[in-house]
Amino acid sequence: MKETPKRAYIPALKYRWLTRFYDPLIERGMQEKKMKIHLVNQAALQPGELTMDLACGTGTLALLLQQSHSGVHVMGLDADPEILAIAKKKMKENRAESIHFVEGFSEQLPFSSNRFHHVFTSLFIHHLTVEKKLETFKEVCRVLKTGGQFHVLDFEKPQNALMRVAFLPVQFMDGFETTSPHVQGIIPDLLKETGFVAIEETRQFSTIVGTLRAYRAFKP
Ligand SMILES: C[S@@+](CC[C@H](N)C(=O)[O-])C[C@H]1O[C@@H](n2cnc3c(N)ncnc32)[C@H](O)[C@@H]1O
Repeated sequence: MKETPKRAYIPALKYRWLTRFYDPLIERGMQEKKMKIHLVNQAALQPGELTMDLACGTGTLALLLQQSHSGVHVMGLDADPEILAIAKKKMKENRAESIHFVEGFSEQLPFSSNRFHHVFTSLFIHHLTVEKKLETFKEVCRVLKTGGQFHVLDFEKPQNALMRVAFLPVQFMDGFETTSPHVQGIIPDLLKETGFVAIEETRQFSTIVGTLRAYRAFKP
């Protein structure tokens, strides 16, 4: 019998054996907490709202979402079962087992339409080809409720020449096809093309691996 081919994705640090080093590297090497707390705060979450951490990796953002607003419901989705196992262990250690994790692909979200109040995603969109970035944004729009918000944090147009050079190691690691559009700045254009409105860049961060920008957009 013919097996269905598995869909491809780029693991957190490209090679699976590096996944276990993801948390210490990102926590110490970047302003991880500062950037993610900014993303959480820009949402002005209300009790009872349903939120998703898309491509949640080890679940740091999902955990921050729950810790900062105990009344919200948090789900994490990722394509990589190994990193989801790390996320679940981390939630157990932090007594945050109410966060529900789902294995799945961003281009075909396993959720019904008009369900979420907020979708968050960090350090992920640069892992996708332009075609998949757009498919993902369309899926996010589908699963959001009317008036729902999409919060994105990712590498985008460098603030200066130094930040451009700093981004090169990420490009060598994650690949030039998926990362190059971010050098020009692609996220606001894709949000617009998908149909999101009131698109706003809320903050920029300089890190040792380049410029990251945070965005907020609404489903009309
Ligand atoms: C660099 S990590 C970022 C993880 C986390 N969001 C963070 O901020 O630390 C990128 C994540 O995207 C996941 N991923 C890659 N392609 C995916 C896809 N098509 N659908 C869902 N997850 C995907 C990887 O497994 C990995 O966990």
